[in-house]
Amino acid sequence: MSSCNREGGCGGDMPLVCLTDYEEYAKEHLSKATWDYYAAGADECCTRDDNLLAYKRIRLRPRILRDVSVSDTRTTVQGTEISFPVGIAPTAFHCLAWHEGEVATARATEALNTCYITSTYSTCSVEEIVAAAPNGYRWFQLYVYRDRKLSEQMVHRVEALGYKALVLTVDVPYTGKRRNDIRNQFKLPPHLKVKNFDGVFQQETAAPEEYGIPANTLDPSISWKDIYWLQSITRLPIIIKGILTKEDAELAVEHGVQGIIVSNHGGRQLDGGPASIDALPEIVDTVQGRIEVYVDGGIRTGSDVLKALALGAKCVFIGRPAVWGLAYKGEEGVREVLQILNDEFRLSMALSGCRNVAEINRNLIQFSKL
Ligand code: FNR
Repeated sequence: MSSCNREGGCGGDMPLVCLTDYEEYAKEHLSKATWDYYAAGADECCTRDDNLLAYKRIRLRPRILRDVSVSDTRTTVQGTEISFPVGIAPTAFHCLAWHEGEVATARATEALNTCYITSTYSTCSVEEIVAAAPNGYRWFQLYVYRDRKLSEQMVHRVEALGYKALVLTVDVPYTGKRRNDIRNQFKLPPHLKVKNFDGVFQQETAAPEEYGIPANTLDPSISWKDIYWLQSITRLPIIIKGILTKEDAELAVEHGVQGIIVSNHGGRQLDGGPASIDALPEIVDTVQGRIEVYVDGGIRTGSDVLKALALGAKCVFIGRPAVWGLAYKGEEGVREVLQILNDEFRLSMALSGCRNVAEINRNLIQFSKL
C-alpha cells in the first residue's frame, strides 16, 4: 500500500514526513501476524485498495490570489469544536501496536483537540481511557450483541464516563473473510484482553473465539428497529457507521439519527463494495444537510481531507494511520500522524485558495475527471 520510497528503509535519523512513512515503519517493526491483522482487507482486498486509489483519481480546481496569509482549520462535529476536521476511527487492539494501547491514542487526540472514537474492542478499558485523558472529546463505537443487556450496559457505562456520542457500526452482521488472519490463525496474545468485557465472557472460555471474544456474539438479525431500541436506552446522539448508499442514508435520517459515517470498514467487510469517497456524494445529496455526514477509509494526505470536505463530509476519520503512529512511538507517534495531516491539510487549503473550512465546497472538485 506504500507509495513513499524512503531510501535506506526506516532506520537511521531520516525524519518521517508523510503517513506512508509511518506505514513502512510499522510494517518493518510489527510482527507479521499483527501487521497482517491491521493491514487486512476482505477477500481480494479490492475495496480496501480502491479506498486509496479513489482519492488519487479526484482532481482539484484551485483558486488563486485569495490572500491565504491566515488560515483556520477549525470545525465542529455534533456542535463541538475540534482543531481540524480529522478524527480517529475506531480500531481494535491498540496494545498490539504499543504497550499503552488506547491510553496513548486518547492522550494524543486530547493534545491535538480532536475526536477519538473508541472501539468496543479496545485493549484498555473505557475507564482507563477516560482517566488517561480526562478532557478528551470522545465518541464510543458500539456493536449490538445477541445479548442486548451487554450492549445496554456498555451504553450506560460510556454515558456515565462522559462519552459524547454513540457510533453504531452496522456493517458487521458477520465478520468479513480476511485471508491472512485465517492463515496466521490470528488471535490476541494471552497477556491482552478485550478489556471492556473483562470477566463478562468467563463462563464461555471453551467456546470458539473470534478476534478476542466468543464467536457469534454479534447479532446478525440487527435491523432498523434496533435504532429505536437504542434511542430508547440513551440520550446520546447516535451516529451510524457503515452506510454506503443513498437509500440507507435516507432511512437513517428517517429513523432520527444524528450522523452518518460513510464507511466500508477499511475494506475489511464486503469486498467489491464502493470506495467510501465514491459513495459520499450520493449520500450528501440525499441527506441535504439534515444531519452531519462523515467519511473514513483511505485518507492518507491532507489533500485527501480537502477532497472529502469538498464532496460534503463534515469531518473525516483515520483508522490504520493512527495505528502506524502508535507502532512508531505511542502517544507521540499518533500526535505526529495527526500533526502531519493537519499541516498538509492547511497547506492544501491555502494552495487551493481556502482560508477556512466554510470556504471548501464542490467547486473545488474537477468532476469531468471523475
Ligand atoms: C477497524 N475498523 C473498526 N471499525 C469499527 O467500527 N470497530 C472496530 O473495532 C474496528 N476495528 C478495526 C480494526 C482495524 C485493524 C482496522 C484497520 C479497522 C474500521 C475502522 O473504523 C475504519 O472504518 C477504517 O479503518 C477506515 O479505513 P482506513 O483509515 O484504515 O483506511
